[in-house]
Amino acid sequence: DVLPVIMAGGSGTRLWPLSRAGYPKQFLILSGNTSLFQQAADRLATLGAEDIAVGAPLVVGNEEHRFMVLDQLREQRLSPSAVMLEPTGRNTAPAITLAALQALQGGSDPVLVVTPADQTVTEADAFTTALQTAIRQAQDGAIVILGITPDRPETGYGYIRGQAEGTGLRVEAFVEKPDAATAQRYLDEGSYFWNSGMFVLRASTWLKALQRFRPDIEAATRAAFDARQTDGAFVRPSKDLFGQVPSESIDYAVMEHCPGSEFPLRMVPLDAGWNDLGAWEAVWQVAPKDNDGNASRGDAIIADSRNTLVHATSRLVSAVGLDNIVVVETPDAVLVADRSKSQDVKKIVNSLTASQ
Ligand code: GDD
Ligand code: MG
Repeated sequence: DVLPVIMAGGSGTRLWPLSRAGYPKQFLILSGNTSLFQQAADRLATLGAEDIAVGAPLVVGNEEHRFMVLDQLREQRLSPSAVMLEPTGRNTAPAITLAALQALQGGSDPVLVVTPADQTVTEADAFTTALQTAIRQAQDGAIVILGITPDRPETGYGYIRGQAEGTGLRVEAFVEKPDAATAQRYLDEGSYFWNSGMFVLRASTWLKALQRFRPDIEAATRAAFDARQTDGAFVRPSKDLFGQVPSESIDYAVMEHCPGSEFPLRMVPLDAGWNDLGAWEAVWQVAPKDNDGNASRGDAIIADSRNTLVHATSRLVSAVGLDNIVVVETPDAVLVADRSKSQDVKKIVNSLTASQ
């Protein structure tokens, strides 16, 4: 009755040069010994309880990465219930719509546990407990999001204001990616949570909410899905029709509109060492460090430096006298950046793409 859905079709441009279109961040090993995608799949595999039967995961990703998805799941001894393959990414609202339509094919209306593939969680037990609470609420028809207590005015996240109600919170406002001043105000007010990007709801509930707020996305995605081709675990929506689907995230398409509507949002707090590995700054944050705050991966020597990250993939990389710097070495490109500017790596990728 529970179907884990992993959204794995993003491009992860802020983690360039390691993250590339052909090999984006969710499939890379950035923390621990497995990729972020594998960590997401492992976490979902342990959600079961006496009253919660968890099925094999459904993955929504890009056509180009289909074998990476299968291989990485196989390494974790997992196999997918289906892999929905997008010819091009149309962001997360169409992705989850494909998952919901596929989920309803079996004749039941499972609770979807939708999760990004670009996060780390350190406390597995706390994660399982929070998700099980969310699943039980979603079984009763609720849309449940998992909220994180913020510790900085991050502008890359959604912000949630909630009012305590029963075993969780009723969401009064959801604001996706506020500007810096607004994020600071939310942090100061203290009553806001970050949207973890994970949410739990029945497949039919998602489709109804989308139909209410963005009927254009619902109809266009359904048309592409209806013209799909199935090849073993792979399910391919029509390339032509999917290309016509408006590109929009779950958050802008639906979540922001829910509070105050007939689709109320509930929030369950998640206190489990959650981190979104969006940029090199976050990779440094979660990495094990020496006494001077330096972290490294691969063949690296760091001397006389502080709070610096060196990620080497193909050569010995040495650093002397660096403070708050990120160095990422790959065979064909090297990044050297101020750690606090690591969000701006996106600009480099954009200019590279533009000049091609
Ligand atoms: N299948 C598919 N297709 N997956 C996608 C697509 C797509 O077109 N675009 C993104 N994804 C996947 C990414 O790989 C990632 O796992 C997840 O969906 C979320 O997308 P991001 O692009 O990483 O979103 P974000 O980090 O900017 O924002 C979201 O997550 C934040 C927390 O990490 C939002 O939900 C925010 O509100 C939230 O705070
Ligand atoms: Mg993200």
